[in-house]
Parts: sequence; C-alpha cells; structure tokens
Amino acid sequence: MAHQFHSFDTGSTLAESLADRVANVLSAAVAARGEATLAVSGGSTPKAFFEALSTRPIDWPKVKVTLVDERFVPEDNPRSNHLLVKTHLLKNAAAAAEFVPLYRPEATIEEAAVTASGIVPGMGQAFDVAILGMGTDGHTASFFPGGDHLNAALDLTLPRRVMTMEAPGAGEARLTLSFSALQDAGLLVVHIEGAEKKAVLDQALSGTDEAEMPIRAVLERAATTPEIYWAP
Ligand code: 6PG
Repeated sequence: MAHQFHSFDTGSTLAESLADRVANVLSAAVAARGEATLAVSGGSTPKAFFEALSTRPIDWPKVKVTLVDERFVPEDNPRSNHLLVKTHLLKNAAAAAEFVPLYRPEATIEEAAVTASGIVPGMGQAFDVAILGMGTDGHTASFFPGGDHLNAALDLTLPRRVMTMEAPGAGEARLTLSFSALQDAGLLVVHIEGAEKKAVLDQALSGTDEAEMPIRAVLERAATTPEIYWAP
C-alpha cells in the first residue's frame, strides 16, 4: 500500500513539523485561490499540533476549519471536538480563522447531518488539508468497526457529505465526513502516536478487510497518498 511514513523522536517535534507543513500548504492555497480549507480530528493526540499550528503566521481570516467527525453534543459538552478545537487551535493567530462546526442543534442527528452537509467546507471540492487520527480498534474519523453506516461512509461512488454513525465503540452518536470528502485532500495526514498505535497501523497494513479495520480504506484507496506522522 502506498503511503509515506514520517517518524519523529517526540510528540512535540512531530507537532512543530506537522504545523509547519500544514501552514505551508494552507498558505499556498490562500495564495492560489484566496482561501484554504482544513479538516481536523478530535481525540487527545492532536492537542500539541493544534497549539503549534495556532501560532503560525497564516492569513487565517481566509482559512475555513471544520472537523473530520464530531459527537452529537453541543459545544459546551466536555466530549465536543468543537470545544477541543476552540481550546487548542482557535487562539493566537488562528483565532481569526472561520470555524464551521459539524454539530447543528437540530431535533435529530439525521437533520443535523443534512444541514451540516450544506454548510461545511470541503463538500464542493477537495480539502486543502485533512488530518485524520486512528483508534486502537482501527477506526478513523467515525468509520468504526460495526458502524451502522460504515459501508455507505466508505463508498467512493457516493457524494461528499456529512453522515451519521452509531457503533458499539463510539459512545455517543456521531457526525462524520464521508470518505469521499476526505480521500482526495491536497495533503492527507494520519497522525498517530505511541507504540500501541504503531502496532495497530502495522496490523492494518498487513490486511485488507475494511470492516475489521476501516483505516484500511485510507491506506488502500485514498486518491491522495496518505502521509503518516508518528512519534513514540
Ligand atoms: C474523535 C476522532 C477519532 C480520533 C481517534 C483517536 O473525535 O474521537 O476524530 O477518530 O482521531 O479516536 O483518538 P485519540 O487521539 O484520543 O487516541
């Protein structure tokens, strides 16, 4: 499977290097088109990268930021990825970025997904940058093993959109970008840290069953060669 592997001695050197890389790609997009789009993941891994990126001298008012996935909870919920991004990324220079949440205060998550699909960036054309994480069960975004809409989420014949996902390992119901909306990002990163996730990645690379380990869709079928950023 084609991928690039970038290994770092520490999480903080990874965070600084990834922030530089993402900043360069976003700045090039702003220079070329007058705007740039960035989709980021939640979880605990990206915090240091968010802090580093927030200080980079990008033309942030021209950058639209959204999430790869989100729990169906409002922004003040401690498990909200919006809250995580607000706390760690939308500060310093990056406070001027436009953040477009996936969460919408609709009566149902299905309505929220439809509304979000019409608003979030990256639905009309590829994201400039998408940063994915990975769980030790082989999920990425909210493409969970056993997810109720996993097949549709990974189907590249279906349009870019925001979808709903429920799965035994997911906790709350989730909103997630479809694989079709992520797989052709100009820069497609899988950011993982720790020996356990490296072992999970190696396991993913050694097989092909996407229902068992949905991260395999990214590693096998993404139009853009994924770049794995790893530190112990
Ligand atoms: C989320 C995610 C998810 C995450 C992985 C890794 O909001 O939970 O977007 O896909 O990237 O679960 O999470 P950790 O970084 O906490 O291990």
